[in-house]
Amino acid sequence: MTTRIQIDTKSIIGSIDDRIYSSFIEHMGRAVYTGIYEPEHESADAFGFRQDVIELIRPLNLACIRYPGGNFLSGYDWQDGIGPKEKRPVRPELAWFALEPNQVGTDDFLQWCERIGTQAMLGVNLGTGTPQSACNLLEYVNSNLPTHFADLRRANGREKPYGVKLWCLGNEMDGPWQICAKTAEEYGRIASEAAKMMKWLDPTIELVACGSSYRSMPTFGAWEKTVLTHCYPYIDYLSLHQYYQNNDDDIPSFLARSVEMEGFIREVADIIRADKARRNSERDVFLSFDEWNVWYHFQKDGVIPEKWTFPRAVEEEVYDGADALLVGCIMNTLLRNADVVKIACLAQLVNTIAPIMTEPNGKAWIQTIYYPFLYASRYGRGSSLHISIDSPTYACALGDDIPFIDGAAILSKGENEIVLFLVNRDIENQQDCQIILSSPDSVSVLEFVSLCGFAADFVNSVTKSPVFPKQNHDYSCSERMITITLPKFSWNMVRIKNVKMKPTT
Ligand code: AHR
Repeated sequence: MTTRIQIDTKSIIGSIDDRIYSSFIEHMGRAVYTGIYEPEHESADAFGFRQDVIELIRPLNLACIRYPGGNFLSGYDWQDGIGPKEKRPVRPELAWFALEPNQVGTDDFLQWCERIGTQAMLGVNLGTGTPQSACNLLEYVNSNLPTHFADLRRANGREKPYGVKLWCLGNEMDGPWQICAKTAEEYGRIASEAAKMMKWLDPTIELVACGSSYRSMPTFGAWEKTVLTHCYPYIDYLSLHQYYQNNDDDIPSFLARSVEMEGFIREVADIIRADKARRNSERDVFLSFDEWNVWYHFQKDGVIPEKWTFPRAVEEEVYDGADALLVGCIMNTLLRNADVVKIACLAQLVNTIAPIMTEPNGKAWIQTIYYPFLYASRYGRGSSLHISIDSPTYACALGDDIPFIDGAAILSKGENEIVLFLVNRDIENQQDCQIILSSPDSVSVLEFVSLCGFAADFVNSVTKSPVFPKQNHDYSCSERMITITLPKFSWNMVRIKNVKMKPTT
């Protein structure tokens, strides 16, 4: 059966917020120390940050990087990480049982973001922290007032406020693993009071409240409703987190996880819509999918490192070909839900469950999952279009009719291109597709790129990269239709020249 892909180039789901191309750096494992920061490394800049890593981050064109956690956030005193480095304390870090030397903190991170050309998305500690400590950090980072914490920033060498726009009100506060976890009532109260105070201090900021830590939390749904009851008027986004596993080595089911993700997004969006209607509110609260990725290899095969060591390598996933395809499907899912998802963070960025890896005192290299993110971030900007895919389906543990072909369609910012991202989940067979566009008189392909030609368990490493995108020429064009063959088990991008309709006179 040939797959028919129909795109109505006038039917827009929503404008794609650039911030869906964001990531996350936590003080966890080697994400910071020997990841982004290693003063002894030969590529280190004057501030101790590895430039070889920056060179791999820059092409991802990240809108925001979330920091400093994660679970780390809930025990973090931000004042430990400012001022002269030799005076900063070493602390036992209870989220990941490591030592935290505080050699990287708020100023170091924010200035690193400025050098990369990305915005920060900062978290305030609502575990051991208070609404007051949250406001103190906000004052330190953003305030122009002649007041204590703004003056402290000036004394630490930074006159100009950083102007950080996006702030997370704690992290995964529903999780029993969280330092000072809270009930929905407790969290709703502290988050709404912190939010009120923070917006009084800086009305230009946007706030993200914690949703459930993942979809199968026993309190999922009820947690969101209670948090919204307290916080709706003060927040701009509600968070979603989800990591995907393939513990049974069942690849067809693993690749169907993005279908589950789509359901999760729509469920949370519905809960928010119901609260909005109940309040008769004009204001929308959108979704911040601020942690997502594949995460299980290390838990299956990894060696638990010794506690209270530094730098402590944890959760250094080695991603394979199947993981790259699921990341492609996840990107498609985020794009198809551009009407409600405004922020999304690939968690994380370097070493810890990350697309970029480093050797301490050695090289930096790219994992398989880097590529679908890279191309989506580069070409998936503009408006998300309705796409109808009539594909053969398969049965697996997640459902009886999972489409082999998953896709998203984008009208580029200048409306010069229609960009398609397509995954062929079929491990055995290539798939012939007809792409039919509604508007133009004739179509032409600008570029067709495929990540293909590997087994599901192929991995990249510091010395070899078998999972690598290639130009593909397996297509032909006729009027209004492109015939294309998607290789078996592949991620693909098709850039089509958009012929704009001439205005009728
Ligand atoms: O990203 C790793 C961890 O996963 C984060 O610290 C936490 O928020 C989530 O459970």
